[in-house]
Amino acid sequence: MRFQGKVALITGAATGIEGQTMGFGGASARLSAREGARVVVADVNESDGERTAAQIAESGGDAIFKRLDVASEREWSEAIAAAVQYAPEDIRVNSVHPGFALTPLTEEAFSDPKLMAPGMASVPLGRLGNANGIVYLAPDESSFVTGSELVTDGGVTAQ
Ligand SMILES: NC(=O)c1ccc[n+]([C@@H]2O[C@H](COP(=O)([O-])OP(=O)(O)OC[C@H]3O[C@@H](n4cnc5c(N)ncnc54)[C@H](O)[C@@H]3O)[C@@H](O)[C@H]2O)c1
Repeated sequence: MRFQGKVALITGAATGIEGQTMGFGGASARLSAREGARVVVADVNESDGERTAAQIAESGGDAIFKRLDVASEREWSEAIAAAVQYAPEDIRVNSVHPGFALTPLTEEAFSDPKLMAPGMASVPLGRLGNANGIVYLAPDESSFVTGSELVTDGGVTAQ
């Protein structure tokens, strides 16, 4: 339980529905809950967000849904206030910048090998990514990391 005692507010996290292809946010929310975090599932998609949070709770995790349009300053204030109720201090804010992965955004395009091949050819590690970026940012080893931008793209931007 690497995230025990922590609160994770994850944006774009409504894509964590069981049995469906998960997006980065949804998969990160599930991973955080599995590692013991209290999770604020934040998204503009309220129905899927509620469903993701409810399913995490049903499987023994701790999650609530909070509507958050990342472009809205007012909604950010409200979402942060919800997270602060859980953890009043030591708040860190980091972002993950992923590369290619199979998510609701890409599953149609990536099901076509002709479309997939050029994308893969641009990835030095030669494979799809995942939502494990959160594992670097949330544990105690990262307690002094805030304001960072973690690139997890298999080396695409390093070329
Ligand atoms: N999947 C990939 O291969 C890939 C590659 C590079 C970058 N990315 C980027 O990673 C991020 C997540 O990608 P994904 O594939 O999981 O996408 P996705 O489309 O599967 O999920 C995105 C989620 O963000 C939510 N969302 C959209 N606008 C929002 C807003 N204004 N405020 C809050 N939530 C909002 C959607 O409702 C959805 O739940 C995106 O920014 C995407 O561009 C993805």
